[in-house]
Amino acid sequence: MTTTRAPFLTQKFGAYHHREVPQPDDELARVGPGTPCGEYFRRFWQPVVMTDELKDLPIRTRILGEDLIIFKDKSGQIGAMELHCPHRGTSLEFGIVSDRGIRCCYHGWLFDVDGRIMETPGEPADSTLKDRLCHGAYPALDYQGLVFIYMGPPDKKPPFPVLDTYGLDGYQMIAGPRYNWPCNWLQVKENSMDAAHLLYLHTLPGSIGFTEDLTIPAEWDYMDTPVGTVYIDTRRKGDKVWIRIADFIPPNIHQFPPNLLPIEQRTEINHPMATTWTVPLDDTNTMQIGFHRTKAGGPFPMRTNPGFGQDDSRPYEERQRVPGDYDAQVNQRPIAVHDLEHLASTDRGVTMLRNMVRRGIRLVQDGADVHSVGVEGDPAPTYSHDIVLDVPPAATEDADQELLRELGRQQVNKWIDQRPRL
Ligand code: FES
Ligand SMILES: [Fe+2]
Repeated sequence: MTTTRAPFLTQKFGAYHHREVPQPDDELARVGPGTPCGEYFRRFWQPVVMTDELKDLPIRTRILGEDLIIFKDKSGQIGAMELHCPHRGTSLEFGIVSDRGIRCCYHGWLFDVDGRIMETPGEPADSTLKDRLCHGAYPALDYQGLVFIYMGPPDKKPPFPVLDTYGLDGYQMIAGPRYNWPCNWLQVKENSMDAAHLLYLHTLPGSIGFTEDLTIPAEWDYMDTPVGTVYIDTRRKGDKVWIRIADFIPPNIHQFPPNLLPIEQRTEINHPMATTWTVPLDDTNTMQIGFHRTKAGGPFPMRTNPGFGQDDSRPYEERQRVPGDYDAQVNQRPIAVHDLEHLASTDRGVTMLRNMVRRGIRLVQDGADVHSVGVEGDPAPTYSHDIVLDVPPAATEDADQELLRELGRQQVNKWIDQRPRL
């Protein structure tokens, strides 16, 4: 869709000339069936719930604009299927989880997890309806405590993708947390490429959760990797240089190192504390879900609580005084309007992310095969970590900034060289 950019307003008290709200960028924002971005997303396995949420009842959800139920039958199979029964549309969230599959509560039709209809109790014994008809189902599996589903064309189903961070020596990993935000997926994902906000939003008085060392001004940089891109923020404290590297892996994964400890306490490399998928539920609702990681034996503070400012549970006035990520991102509008933005120097990562996603969308539109890399036994290399180096400052402030950037890039290159090429 063509949109008109809002005027670059130069007039004082000029809001009158700035009232029209252009359309969002539909190519990147819309995810329903048949939309360009929706079809792109459907080429990738997506996590939908934590496996231990699947108890004796089905879970009703909405993924990429489609209403679904997710359940685990009594034989342990995981099902992901259309919400509405193919008979007369009753919602299978009221279905009866069975020894095999799920049974609709209305007239008792029984569906296996692949969509086959196993019983149509009210029909004559010689009815062949159940042999001719299938209910809509998607492939689903449990991987280390997360349920993933594949919603794309059946003949394009890729192997389940595995990252090297899923089995790190000396680390433990669990699924969770999972939380929903009422806004478009892209603005949430953009935040993971927006290192600049760490220095402002997360240092507002009263804000909690991060080490104060994050308030030290950083040098930012971005580099492409074999699996996506990284942002690097590098900062100095005396003779110590702290390099933080976060992965973005298209279309919607990011990994970032822990940010709670002060620089002095970082005596070894930290691998990413989280692998997070930003899953579009629909155009204006988004789920954050993923794995959470700590060193072996460490506690999991984020298991049930996503952290300060990551939801709307605090009183409104308190959120106004000390806003968090939730407040900043959800209120960019239900779908942030790019034609109203004025991107600045700190938004390079945001632009890179948008370009990457747009390239992927267009590849799928052009008929190319687009899918994740890495499989069990041969995982995809990733690059997020942090490290503290002992490097005295350069002679001048400018030279030191240049030095910090160089150290950050060297660190990424080192990891790229050490890891398998794809
Ligand atoms: S509506 Fe589901 S069995 Fe009739
Ligand atoms: Fe943040």
